[in-house]
Amino acid sequence: MGKIAVIGSNMVDLITYIDRMPVQGETLEAPGFALGCGGKGANQAVAAAKLGADVLMLSKVGDDMFADNTLANFRRFGIDTRYVQRVPGVSSGVAPIFVRADSHNSILIVKGANAHLLPADIDAAAADLRECTLIVLQLEINLPTVYYAIEFAHRHGIAVLLNPAPALAGLSGEHLAQLDFLIPNESELALITGQVVDSPDSARIAARTLVASGIRHVIVTLGEHGALYVGEEGEFEVPGQRVDARDTTGAGDAFIGCFVQHWSRDGQIRYAMEQAVAYSACSVTALGTQTSYPDSEAFARFQQQR
Ligand code: RIB
Repeated sequence: MGKIAVIGSNMVDLITYIDRMPVQGETLEAPGFALGCGGKGANQAVAAAKLGADVLMLSKVGDDMFADNTLANFRRFGIDTRYVQRVPGVSSGVAPIFVRADSHNSILIVKGANAHLLPADIDAAAADLRECTLIVLQLEINLPTVYYAIEFAHRHGIAVLLNPAPALAGLSGEHLAQLDFLIPNESELALITGQVVDSPDSARIAARTLVASGIRHVIVTLGEHGALYVGEEGEFEVPGQRVDARDTTGAGDAFIGCFVQHWSRDGQIRYAMEQAVAYSACSVTALGTQTSYPDSEAFARFQQQR
C-alpha cells in the first residue's frame, strides 16, 4: 500500500447543536455543544488512518492550548507528524459549527496557523513526499501553497487529488489540468465550471468539461444520492445509502479519507467510491466530525448490518 501525504488544514471544531440560528440581537439557548478535532485536511488524514492507511501530514498548529491536543490526536491514529509544526504568536485554526436538528450544518472557519503553511514547507518535506504515491489537498490553506503542491506532485510523478473545499471561484485552469483526481460536491463543481449543477445529469455535463480540460478523474459527491464518476474510466454513478442522519459535518471528508485509503491500496476507483459512499453514510449516523469516523472493524460491522 502506498503512503498518502495530506497537505492541508487542521481546525478545532466548536460544534453547537441548535434548534435554529439566533437573529440579530437575540440570545438563544442551544441544546448541546462538543469540542472536537477537525479541519478538512486533518479529517481526511484521520479517516484514511483509521482505516489503516499510512499517512504523512503537512500542517501548522498555533501557539495555544489547542496545539498539543491536535498533535496528540494525529499521533493517536499513527499519522506521521514530523511536518506538523507550531507557528509562534498565532492561533490554531478554529471552526465554529452549528448543527441543526435535521443534521445539516453551517460552518465558519478561521484559518489561523493554517495560513502559514507555505511552499517552503513542501520543499522541506520533499524527500519524504517523494516516497508517497498520492498527495491530497483541500482549500483551507493558502492557494499558492496548493498550487505549489500540485506542481511538485506533477514534477515528481506523484498522483495528486484536490478536494476544492471550501468552494472558491477562479481556480487556475493550468493547475486543475495537472490533477489526477478532483473531488468536488455539487456547489463546488458549479463554482469551478460556472455551470448550473442541480442534478446528477447537470453534474455529469459539468464534470465532462473538466475532464476535457485535462483532469484524469472527476468524482462528484452527491450527498445522500451517492457519487458520480467522469474520467478515463468512463462514466458511472454509485448510489447513495439510506441512513438516519444525525450530523452531516465532515461527511465529505469521510468520503475522501476512505476513497484514498482504498485507492492507494489497489487503484480500483469504482470499488473505492462504493466504500467511500458507505463510509460517509456511516459517519453521518454519529455526532461530531472525526469522532463519527469508524475504524475498519466498526465500518465492517456497519456494512454487515445492512
Ligand atoms: O468538512 C468539515 C470541516 O470543515 C470541519 O471539521 C471544520 O473544521 C471545517 O474545516
